Amino acid sequence: MRVWLLVLLCLGATAQAGAESKQPPGVAVASGHYLATEAGLEILQQGGNAFDAAIAVSSVLAVVESSSSGIGGGGFWLLHLADENREVMIDGREFAPGKAHEKLFQNPDGSVNRDKALNGPLAAGIPGEPAALAWMAEHYGRLPLKQSLAPAIRIAEEGFPAYPKYIALMKHRMKVIRRYPASVKQLTIDGRLPREGELIRQPDLAHTLRLLAEKGHDGFYKGEVAKKLVAGVQAAGGIWTLDDLARYRVIEREPVKFRYKQWQVVTASLPSSGGIALATMLNILEPFDLEAMSEATRVHLVVEAMRRAYRDRAIYLGDPDFVQVPSFLTSKDYAAGLRASIRLDKATPSSMLPGPAAKPEGGHTTHFSLMDAEGNMVSATMSVNTSYGSCFIPPGTGVLLNNEMDDFSSKPGSPNAYGLIGNHANAIEPYKRMLSSMSPSMVFGDDRVAVLGTPGGSRIITMVLLGMLDFFEGHGPASWVSLPRYHHQYVPDKIYLEPDALSRETVQALEAMGHTVVRKKHTWGYMHGVMWDKAGQHLEAATDPRWPSGKAAVKSAP
Ligand code: GLY
Repeated sequence: MRVWLLVLLCLGATAQAGAESKQPPGVAVASGHYLATEAGLEILQQGGNAFDAAIAVSSVLAVVESSSSGIGGGGFWLLHLADENREVMIDGREFAPGKAHEKLFQNPDGSVNRDKALNGPLAAGIPGEPAALAWMAEHYGRLPLKQSLAPAIRIAEEGFPAYPKYIALMKHRMKVIRRYPASVKQLTIDGRLPREGELIRQPDLAHTLRLLAEKGHDGFYKGEVAKKLVAGVQAAGGIWTLDDLARYRVIEREPVKFRYKQWQVVTASLPSSGGIALATMLNILEPFDLEAMSEATRVHLVVEAMRRAYRDRAIYLGDPDFVQVPSFLTSKDYAAGLRASIRLDKATPSSMLPGPAAKPEGGHTTHFSLMDAEGNMVSATMSVNTSYGSCFIPPGTGVLLNNEMDDFSSKPGSPNAYGLIGNHANAIEPYKRMLSSMSPSMVFGDDRVAVLGTPGGSRIITMVLLGMLDFFEGHGPASWVSLPRYHHQYVPDKIYLEPDALSRETVQALEAMGHTVVRKKHTWGYMHGVMWDKAGQHLEAATDPRWPSGKAAVKSAP
């Protein structure tokens, strides 16, 4: 068992500088909640590796940040195995239940029923997170699942203090939560919003986590928990069956990998659209010297790359086990063709690049990045989709179900409720995984390694792009996570800005090129990143200032 000698919160643990090392000088964890980060450190201190720590962080987030992820949801866990010098993506994305069909959320008149697609049991895909945690423990961890899940079980039982974001997000969903007695019992205090500091105890969730800890995969997908989940879902009008749960398996996928200048980028593969879109955008941008350009020209080029990648996303991408996705999308030659269609001085209207527009995914998701002292790394993004998912907890389970079914195109081929056009590649089919934007990523260079990602729905991919560009230019995680953000997703044909992003002069220059620029009143995303400076033997970790409950920690190895 290793015992860490020195604790430094947030930035910077510098060990002996010197020759480049194959192993980091300690461990680093950055997540959206201090209890999750502390659980990761606790498990590392007990002799666990990065994968055990990832189980601890994921499961504690499932307890304390149920607005964003949970064992009723899913995600992607990107692992770097230091011994084998390889990466693998654990696809724990939800799939559609067997009785789901293309018109599940369509009213008799063909319109889309947004309430059904977002709220209650019909909106929930079959969860993947419990399977992913059990898989990681069995195949990559060093500790038993029981040990890695212990902090989450403890916190579910003893409670955690409600914090401002938890309360604010619940406020938006209170009307729907009130429809379901088990949700009211678990999430609220006697039917009202919790006050800051009030303890949220979740005994049913603790019981379910304990069964998962004791029995592994089957503790959730078979037996007592499965029966209660299915009974609760069906009683409330949902379509899950015991067979749906028994069928659920994680899929190990080869991540998307490509070179950008001297960097090796490793990122999420389908059914996340993130990796393919990042490859397209960075391949388009590669020959440009972005640093030498004016801010307006640089933003213009980055936006044109975003526009083209999001268009392809809408046309081609879906679950690769159901649709044939062309391999040229990540090729340098294809990117060269897209680049040739960009003018340096003028925006390309999206209407000149015809194609369907995908519906943006909802934004309540979470991310963590971590690294152990052996050089194993995990970048994981997990979700229940919008805040508090479907708001539905099947009685007796403590499992808040996702509403990821809304990440499918509810009505392929014709405008959806937002006036956007869906696509067949992402239509609902039984057992199909809905397209995602979650983009857990790593970047490897000779001297520096980055582990990064963020929640934020369809904006995830552009946030990760901006974070990577900042890393390529020599900055560390404190900079990537706090950068003001801009975003374009093909349709609507607008550049969205965070309140502090881009100067007025830059906005005017972009408008003169033909861009429509919209400054939003709110920020988006919360990126958590870790960096290993191999040359300086230095670790850094940072959490996004937009999400104050987060915690980044670096501990030096003895
Ligand atoms: N539900 C958000 C995403 O998967 O992208």
